[in-house]
Amino acid sequence: MESSRLVSIIFIVYTIILSTSSVNCTENNNLVTNQAALFVFGDSLFDAGNNNYINTTFRSNFWPYGQTTFKFPTGRVSDGRVIPDFIAENAWLPLIPPNLQPSNDNNQFTYGVSFASAGAGALVETSPGMAINLGTQLKSFKNVVRSLRSALGEVEANRVFSRAVYLFSIGGNDYFYPISATSSPFQSNSNEKFADIVIGNTTSVIKEMYNMGGRKFGILNVGAYDCAPAGLTLDRTNIGSCHGPVSELIDLHNKKLPEALRRLQRELPGFRYALHDYHTSLLERINNPMKYGFKEGNKACCGSGPFRGTNTCGNRMGKSYELCENVTDYLFFDAAHLTEKAHRQITELIWSGPPNITGPYNLKALFELNYAYIESPLDVSDENKDEVAL
Ligand SMILES: *[C@@H]1O[C@H](CO)[C@@H](O)[C@H](O)[C@H]1NC(C)=O
Ligand SMILES: *[C@@H]1O[C@H](CO)[C@@H](O)[C@H](O)[C@H]1NC(C)=O
Ligand SMILES: *[C@@H]1O[C@H](CO)[C@@H](O)[C@H](O)[C@H]1NC(C)=O
Ligand SMILES: *[C@@H]1O[C@H](CO)[C@@H](O)[C@H](O)[C@H]1NC(C)=O
Ligand SMILES: *[C@@H]1O[C@H](CO)[C@@H](O)[C@H](O)[C@H]1NC(C)=O
Repeated sequence: MESSRLVSIIFIVYTIILSTSSVNCTENNNLVTNQAALFVFGDSLFDAGNNNYINTTFRSNFWPYGQTTFKFPTGRVSDGRVIPDFIAENAWLPLIPPNLQPSNDNNQFTYGVSFASAGAGALVETSPGMAINLGTQLKSFKNVVRSLRSALGEVEANRVFSRAVYLFSIGGNDYFYPISATSSPFQSNSNEKFADIVIGNTTSVIKEMYNMGGRKFGILNVGAYDCAPAGLTLDRTNIGSCHGPVSELIDLHNKKLPEALRRLQRELPGFRYALHDYHTSLLERINNPMKYGFKEGNKACCGSGPFRGTNTCGNRMGKSYELCENVTDYLFFDAAHLTEKAHRQITELIWSGPPNITGPYNLKALFELNYAYIESPLDVSDENKDEVAL
């Protein structure tokens, strides 16, 4: 009995070693894989640590961030994994590394890379100097395009780019006071026009990626941050209510975004997208936490003040903070960012949700789409070559 148990334990250990080493062999030997890569853009919802490498106060590379899973503060703005980590797992990809991580090389880029930066907006006026805005993320992506083209050759690199999925979470910071209050496009335009400007900048980045070969785009609308712990405490005279002016802006954005994406689909042959209604999936959990296995839907695990809505988590800005005992009871980890448990739930909806929550494609369907390279010739016109060579 004992010896047969020992044999099976050895077998299990051996299998684990074998499967681990086969994963690494793939990584080392196959520069080009048959997997679709994942390129990640946007804000704190997706940042995997880029802000660790820039001079900003929008950082989370300190305890207790990272206490779950990594047991180490990676810079992700959560207790554990964020949405792109779970998407990568579903897509059989390794964790997608931050672009600014010094150990990055071309080999890793074939699985994708993350350009997301906490605090980032679609507009250059949002968090100036404190985050990597969407336009700058696009510029960094162009450098990756250039380096992959020289490492793999044009044909193979284009194959990677047309198969890849491009994932976006952007807009929240453009609309969230006090971040946006000082931005000049915000001050000098109507809400309606301001939302058009934010969406215009987002779709023009998507178009440029399309012109470089991108075909499959995943995008989240803006979450109900007006009702997050930070939103509930923004107006000191009305603590506990979703913040009206922010709600209004977010609603405008979320009304206009689907129209803008449908327009892109009409204009751009082969363009396919997955729009996740993050506003609904988040608000649903804020309002019905118990239904989703949370005890607290609008109080953060980490922070201070009412709803722990003041973001002092981890002694940010030298201020004291409270930390909950059991993070799995909470939807929000800090004043505006979700727990790993919540990220896992949202990812399932993005990955395989029905069209009324993620559509017209879901992420799984986008990853499985393989027609782009075969059916729609890449636009590698001279104009685009010049753009990439900048
Ligand atoms: C294989 O890769 C994993 C994750 O990339 C790493 O943690 C592990 O140390 C690697 N194992 C070997 C044998 O190189
Ligand atoms: C970082 O930014 C702060 C204020 O924005 C500035 O005072 C400081 O000199 C900067 N540090 C470096 C290393 O650039
Ligand atoms: C992009 O944003 C800038 C402000 O940062 C604005 O002037 C410009 O019109 C916007 N572009 C589009 C296409 O909406
Ligand atoms: C945390 O809460 C979850 C769900 O409510 C429970 O399963 C788990 O045992 C708790 N963990 C601790 C350490 O109390
Ligand atoms: C979406 O459709 C499913 C059934 O496929 C339904 O259970 C769910 O309530 C719908 N969600 C929304 C947000 O309408």
